[in-house]
Amino acid sequence: MKLAVLISGRGSNLEALIKATSEPDYPAEICLVVSNRGDAGGLKIATAAGIETAVIKPKDFESREEFEEALNVRIQDSGAQLICLAGFMWLLGESFSHGWRDRLLNIHPSLLPAFKGLHVQAQAVEMGVRFSGCTVHFVRPELDDGPIIVQAVVPVLPGDDTETLSARILEQEHRIYPMAVRWIAEGRVRVSGERVLIDGANPPDQVLVSPAVA
Ligand code: GRF
Repeated sequence: MKLAVLISGRGSNLEALIKATSEPDYPAEICLVVSNRGDAGGLKIATAAGIETAVIKPKDFESREEFEEALNVRIQDSGAQLICLAGFMWLLGESFSHGWRDRLLNIHPSLLPAFKGLHVQAQAVEMGVRFSGCTVHFVRPELDDGPIIVQAVVPVLPGDDTETLSARILEQEHRIYPMAVRWIAEGRVRVSGERVLIDGANPPDQVLVSPAVA
C-alpha cells in the first residue's frame, strides 16, 4: 500500500513511519511527503531517506478550497492509497476529508475525545489527569474527530511538566502509528458506524498500555 505523509514541522512521526516501512516485511511504503511549510524539518528527513517531497503552501492560493484541491491532485498523482497526517497543522475541509474518507489518518497526543486542539499535553498536566496518551484515528471534518483505530496510555506522574509528558507520549506515538498503518495495509480494518473493527486483534491490542504502567 502506498502512503502519502503530510507534515508541517519536526517530522518525528514521519521518521517512525519511514523506519517501519523500511522493514522488509512491512506491507506499506511511503511514496510522497508533503509539507505546507517550506521550513519543516521533516522534509530533510524524507529527502535523506530518498522519498519524494513537495511543498504546497496555502498562501500561494486564492482560497482554502484551491489549496486543498492542489494538495489532493498532487497526492492522487503520487498513486497514494492512504494519507497519514503527521503533525500537519491545517484543518482539512469537508470536500478533502470526504474524498479520502476512511483513507485519511491522524495522530493526536491525547486520549481522544479528551483534549482536542493544540497544547493538549499542557492541558493534561494542568487538569491533573492521571493518565494521558495518544490516538490514531480516521479523520472527519471536525477537529480531532473520527473513528479511533488505536490508543496508547501513559501515566501522568506527579513531577511532570509539559515537556516530560510530551516525551512520554511521543514515544508511544512512534509505536502506534506504524502499527495502525500496518493493520490497514493488511486489510484488517473496517469502520462500522463510528467504530473501528480490526480483524484478528483483541481489544487489548487496540488499547496499548505503555511499559511504564504495565
Ligand atoms: C505530534 O505530537 C502529533 O501527535 C501531533 O503533532 C506532533 C507532530 O510531531 N499531531 P512530529 O512532527 O511528528 O515530530
